[in-house]
Amino acid sequence: MIKILAVDDEEPFRRLLKRELARKGFFVETASGANEAFALVKENAYDVILLDIVMPGVDGISFMKKLKGDPVAPAIIVLTGKATVETAVEAMKNGAYDYLTKPCKLEELAVVINRAFEYGKLAMKSSLLQQELVRKESSARFVYKSRQMDSIIAYIKKVAPTDSPVFIHGESGTGKELAANIVWRNSKRRALPLIALNCATLSENLMESELFGHERGAFTDAYRTKNGIVEVADKGTLFLDEIGEMPLKLQAKLLRFLDSGEFRRVGGEKNLSVDVRVIAASNRDLTALIKEGGFREDLFYRLNVFSVTMPPLRERPEDIEELAIYFLDKYSRKFAKPAGRLEKAALQALVNYKWPGNVRELENIMERAIILSDTGVIDKRELLIPEHAHSDGYQPSLEEMEKDYILRVLGASGGNQSKTSQILGIDRKTLYLKLRKYGVEV
Ligand SMILES: Nc1ncnc2c1ncn2[C@@H]1O[C@H](COP(=O)(O)OP(=O)(O)OP(=O)(O)O)[C@@H](O)[C@H]1O
Ligand SMILES: [Mg+2]
Repeated sequence: MIKILAVDDEEPFRRLLKRELARKGFFVETASGANEAFALVKENAYDVILLDIVMPGVDGISFMKKLKGDPVAPAIIVLTGKATVETAVEAMKNGAYDYLTKPCKLEELAVVINRAFEYGKLAMKSSLLQQELVRKESSARFVYKSRQMDSIIAYIKKVAPTDSPVFIHGESGTGKELAANIVWRNSKRRALPLIALNCATLSENLMESELFGHERGAFTDAYRTKNGIVEVADKGTLFLDEIGEMPLKLQAKLLRFLDSGEFRRVGGEKNLSVDVRVIAASNRDLTALIKEGGFREDLFYRLNVFSVTMPPLRERPEDIEELAIYFLDKYSRKFAKPAGRLEKAALQALVNYKWPGNVRELENIMERAIILSDTGVIDKRELLIPEHAHSDGYQPSLEEMEKDYILRVLGASGGNQSKTSQILGIDRKTLYLKLRKYGVEV
């Protein structure tokens, strides 16, 4: 039976969909908004999502963006009342399978659902491959100037051609994923894709069946046999991201697999065997996690044959200018803006800042600065570095930070609310509600 999740904020429409599609033999669950839907998608293996675009809170497009990187996300059919060419384009660009306008004929909807289902079956493997193509194409430059990074890169290039596991540790945003890419690109397995699994985004059961696959009938939703990504990655490289989040039970199975190259699909009785090279990454301190009993020591040693630590940006200030200019260049090109230039005072502010979000935060700040600057010249005004972060001691509340930040973006965009909400990544209504909450006259 095809399993559908219908996401719409209007209760009568959800009820109608559920009833009519059930009559046609589909299994339907519903969600009243994007957050509820996201929680359901994490826990259930849907084949197709019917998605409304205009919803209060998180809208359909943002929901799709959140699912986009997930190679096993269900096929999405957008159902919306307000059909404009822009929304259609936006939806398709973000990976929608098809697009229908409300009200739509039930017959037509059923046909599209069946097609989306067939498409989804094919898409899983190819999207895994595509995901890899994106990585390969992007082959983002690794930018640095510090001697520290220089020796780390040299080390990575030295261990890459061996077939041994590599463990990459570092704070969030320090470039662990990029480092994993460098290992893969310099390895003997680079002709085959780098297949990634993010252990932080899946529930335990789904993670196991993603990793090792399942046999048909292994559990209620297992309508067909599915290959695990260890099979997809055979002869190639597997990147286990956020490995610290892997549940203990699965850690035991992973260890067995790494020791023997053998595994069983969920519900399977045969031992299967593949040959993969594993790269793992985590921003958590696994040694501490081991002490707390949250991570297996034997698995850690198995993964940590070669160990790479990505230093936080504040410990390598020499890299800041190089990276800032690189991102300035990247985003002025992307937004077709005049070539960016960094004012002295702005650079000074960047060097003084402590960078809790590391390189990712620097990249975001430069991207926004380019959007905000009309001339390409970046001064302190466009940087929007949180002021509180400069002064030690005082710890503002999340709300204070948010208010402060919203007002800065609003100021820097000349009071333009739609530009502001775009930069903040929230919709205009949310922005409006927040401004009202903070007592800001609009
Ligand atoms: N040295 C670098 N040169 C160019 N870009 C970089 C560099 N380091 C990081 N980046 C960019 O910063 C962003 C964050 O990097 P990445 O995703 O590799 O970090 P991460 O350590 O995996 O973070 P997280 O722990 O949050 O997953 C990416 O867009 C990446 O391309
Ligand atoms: Mg990462």
